Amino acid sequence: MVILAIETSCDETAIALLEARGGLSAPRFDVLGSTIASQIPAHRPFGGVVPNIAKREHLKNLPIVYRQVFNDQFSNSNFQINHKSQIQNKDILKKIDAICVTVGPGLEPALWTGIGFAKDLYKELKKENPKLKLIGTNHLEGHLYSFLLTQKTENNKTQIPISKLFPAIALIVSGGHTILLRVDSLVKWKKLGETKDDAVGESFDKVAKMLGLPYPGGPEIQKLAKKGGPHAIDFPRPMLHTKDYNFSYSGLKTSVLYYLRDHKKTRKADVAASFQEAALDVLVKKTARAVKEFDAKSILLSGGVAANEELRHKLSVISHKLGTRFLAPPMDFNTDNAVMIGVAGYMSILRKKNRRIVAQGNMEI
Ligand code: KG4
Ligand code: ZN
Repeated sequence: MVILAIETSCDETAIALLEARGGLSAPRFDVLGSTIASQIPAHRPFGGVVPNIAKREHLKNLPIVYRQVFNDQFSNSNFQINHKSQIQNKDILKKIDAICVTVGPGLEPALWTGIGFAKDLYKELKKENPKLKLIGTNHLEGHLYSFLLTQKTENNKTQIPISKLFPAIALIVSGGHTILLRVDSLVKWKKLGETKDDAVGESFDKVAKMLGLPYPGGPEIQKLAKKGGPHAIDFPRPMLHTKDYNFSYSGLKTSVLYYLRDHKKTRKADVAASFQEAALDVLVKKTARAVKEFDAKSILLSGGVAANEELRHKLSVISHKLGTRFLAPPMDFNTDNAVMIGVAGYMSILRKKNRRIVAQGNMEI
């Protein structure tokens, strides 16, 4: 199947074209083209994503991003862009079997822009291809399934059969979510826990703001943390010892706020490193506990925070100790992108899952 995927749930306008094949036991994907227009410069002055600015930027960027995926002529792309495409010829448009668009969760004004664009395109392309499908896709399933883009693990460099990965423990960590799942197969999972307040990525963004670092804060904290001591300051590890698999990040953020208020001369690098250590410690220890409880064969990490090198390192070390495999998407597929939406869309087709093509801001995984 040739799949065109569209993602506009937050602050990235992304479109991808991929080829998908294989059934539920061994789905395979080839990325033909992928373009991501980041809106970071537009939101940066506000220190976070502003929904109406996101909507305006998506509306402006969607047609440009679409043309770029097909390597079409484009004039002014004055946005930061991540673009890889091997498509030479627009004839491939006639071969598209499905358009997959994120319908939730996310910011509803932003989701509607992608949905509107997908519907218009669907009407247009359906004239030539009456069998064309329009598939509503869950953004979180996009993150979850992004491990399918590589089955090579950090502690095993060869391709492994998918059945050998389950049961797995999946940790989805982004700007909006912190979720731990027990995954029994590619079609069956159970939520073990999630954050009760802020998401872990959100806490990176807020602490970065307190330290005077630009948005998004995750990469900035990671960079500054390299120069500081992870154990210089003893920040709390909220909910580390609770028996459940839930998380909480708002108390940690407040501790950093009070620490900065009371220690005006502190080294910012120590604050960044000690905050990062506290934030990741809870993720890693709860993931490890779930691995033991459910005798999991692998750990699947995804979401924007999965780009954090220290988190990847810690999970890699712990999975080595526990004898599990550790899979995380290649670097381009951690933060929001449309390739993962194409993957999740294909899985929805295989699972015969039909969703309403309307924005569903609070959609669950
Ligand atoms: O998945 P994503 O692109 O968007 C959402 O669905 O939320 O995740 C974005 C989040 C932001 O909070 C950003 O600060 C965080 O991922 N992030 C990181 C890193 N890179 C991105 N957090 C920690 N370390 C990083 N290297
Ligand atoms: Zn995301």
